[in-house]
Amino acid sequence: METLLKTENLTLSFNGKKILDNLNLTFKRSEIHAVVGPNGAGKSTFASTVMGLDGYRKFEGGIFYKGLSLKELGVYERAKLGITMGWQEPARFEGLKIRQFMKASSKDKKEDSIIEALSILGIDYREYADRIIDKSLSGGERKKFELASIVAMQPELVILDEPDSGIDVASLDNIFGAIRHLHDNGATVILITHSLEVLKNAQYAYLLCSGTLLDEGRVSKIRKYFEGKCLTCAHKNIPLFSELERYV
Ligand SMILES: Nc1ncnc2c1ncn2[C@@H]1O[C@H](COP(=O)(O)OP(=O)(O)OP(=O)(O)O)[C@@H](O)[C@H]1O
Ligand SMILES: [Mg+2]
Repeated sequence: METLLKTENLTLSFNGKKILDNLNLTFKRSEIHAVVGPNGAGKSTFASTVMGLDGYRKFEGGIFYKGLSLKELGVYERAKLGITMGWQEPARFEGLKIRQFMKASSKDKKEDSIIEALSILGIDYREYADRIIDKSLSGGERKKFELASIVAMQPELVILDEPDSGIDVASLDNIFGAIRHLHDNGATVILITHSLEVLKNAQYAYLLCSGTLLDEGRVSKIRKYFEGKCLTCAHKNIPLFSELERYV
């Protein structure tokens, strides 16, 4: 399968500390990938660097999309190439009506596709179309609208940072349904997570710790990280579960 996104020795430092340390990751077209690791591993930083957000542009090494270097491209230019992202904390589009927000996001601008995208997330379009996006939307609702807008956008590459955060158990299936829908429609998906449930949706996974790549492989292999709570690593920034047990 063709490589869609690739990083070569990707390194990003803040105040002299390497947050991403020499990462060589490959994402194949139309596969679902996961980037997993403990809090502070550098997962969201990786996503922001691929997206080209302000403050995340001065990296060393390379990021290539279909062989094209993204180094000189800003976030808008990267979005035009078909790269999009769902945020750990979704942005607010305060003041817009849901119907305007969804239409602006939608690729074909057709109401039918907007209705379908929302229904995948378990949302009735008619009920919400005229709701104004403001603080009255719950956190979980905001997350679902964001994911629905990404489904309607039909991106080529989507990075979802903790798609399950703030989502109740009953709605998790909607989130996973949206991930499957994106995949079935040809999108390459990168799931950023520290949840085993989310990881199970992926085919190939990368395990980060302290900004470095600790392990990679099929999900059946990487899931052992969750079963062991933490793998032995050189950084020792996270105590091993077995060591923690000594203190409790
Ligand atoms: N702009 C910044 N300036 C300084 N340090 C930063 C900056 N952004 C991130 N960091 C640090 O980089 C490390 C990695 O953060 P990041 O948000 O990428 O972790 P994460 O793997 O997404 O964790 P979580 O699972 O908690 O979301 C953290 O120690 C964080 O404090
Ligand atoms: Mg994060």
